[in-house]
Amino acid sequence: MEKNPAAGAPIAVDRPLLDIADLSVEYRTFDGVVSAVNGLNLSIGAGENLGLVGETGAGKTTTALTVLKLLPPRVGFVTGGRVVFEGRDLLRAPEHDMQTVRGNRISMIFQNPMTSLNPVFTVEQQIQGVLMQHQHLSKEEAKERVGAMLELVGISRRRALEYPHQFSGGMRQRVSIAIALSCNPKLLIADEPTTALDVTIQAQVLKLMNDLKSQFNTSTIMITHDLGIVAENCDTVAVMYAGTVVERAPVKDLFEDPRHPYTVGLFGSLPDPDSTKERLDPIPGSPPDPMALPAGCHFAPRCRKKRPECDEARPVLRQTAAGHYVMCHLAREDAGAGTGTGVGADAGVSSAGGDAR
Ligand SMILES: Nc1ncnc2c1ncn2[C@@H]1O[C@H](COP(=O)(O)OP(=O)(O)O)[C@@H](O)[C@H]1O
Ligand code: SF4
Ligand SMILES: [Mg+2]
Repeated sequence: MEKNPAAGAPIAVDRPLLDIADLSVEYRTFDGVVSAVNGLNLSIGAGENLGLVGETGAGKTTTALTVLKLLPPRVGFVTGGRVVFEGRDLLRAPEHDMQTVRGNRISMIFQNPMTSLNPVFTVEQQIQGVLMQHQHLSKEEAKERVGAMLELVGISRRRALEYPHQFSGGMRQRVSIAIALSCNPKLLIADEPTTALDVTIQAQVLKLMNDLKSQFNTSTIMITHDLGIVAENCDTVAVMYAGTVVERAPVKDLFEDPRHPYTVGLFGSLPDPDSTKERLDPIPGSPPDPMALPAGCHFAPRCRKKRPECDEARPVLRQTAAGHYVMCHLAREDAGAGTGTGVGADAGVSSAGGDAR
């Protein structure tokens, strides 16, 4: 649910279910420090279907893992920000509480279904285990629910006693969706859930997720680099670049009126069905080295609209039209959309320079 803009209107979503504010995450490796997420702001409302898009390495998976506090231990570190879910900051929640949140309130579907499936247990044992642990069902009750969950994702309950390797890739992904949804989560994070699937199965899995969303009113964060999937399945889109959200808008607005030079470039890079050329206008250059980010705007080295001030100060995410947020010094702003009071400012981020790091 997007708020109507007024001068200085605050954040994008009414009563957000999840509100990520000024989040920064780094990986400390032998080679150096990778700044994977850099002052990221993102909210999602109840029942909202948000597409999170961006090139490989933009920090999408890291953001998802941070929400669930599943960053690799001793390597991944949150260096700042808040992840407020249902009114409490998960970053400050003890691990014991997170075990209840994971799977129960927030579920994740991974790109590779084998990440969430255990090869040595049958599908029945795995779904049953989740139901007994999170929903406190008895063994018999859980067993009965397993059949229902499998049928919900289009798999015969007779196959419940089989092992993951006995299923095709598409079916495994549907099993992992059944597991993710078996506790009726409030938020489902799907990280490139269809990338490994062929086109027909991909369509089936997406339809299934949409059906389930309307049935359970689950909010969804759909992580993908496929803008076609976003167009067909999401209400809003957030575009990530170099570890931060550079533009966020209702789907229609983003497709019809992209305002960040990176987003404009992304759309220019889409294959044109009427053209014999593969790509029309690819973005020159490549994303910045996350071990040595530019001082000002992170997109500056590739930006055709760059001005001298872009190298000096990092822009903040600010509202430029109803629910349309852009992180660019030069972004066009509709009358009455607010003057520099962006999401970052609302979340307590310094708006001068904007770089929280
Ligand atoms: N375990 C890790 N150790 C070190 N660097 C990592 C690790 N995981 C991801 N990264 C780096 O963090 C950045 C963000 O990665 P990621 O969140 O996976 O992006 P995306 O999901 O958008 O492709 C990339 O530069 C990636 O190489
Ligand atoms: S702030 Fe400057 S460099 Fe960055 S996207 Fe906008 S115009 Fe380009
Ligand atoms: Mg990823």
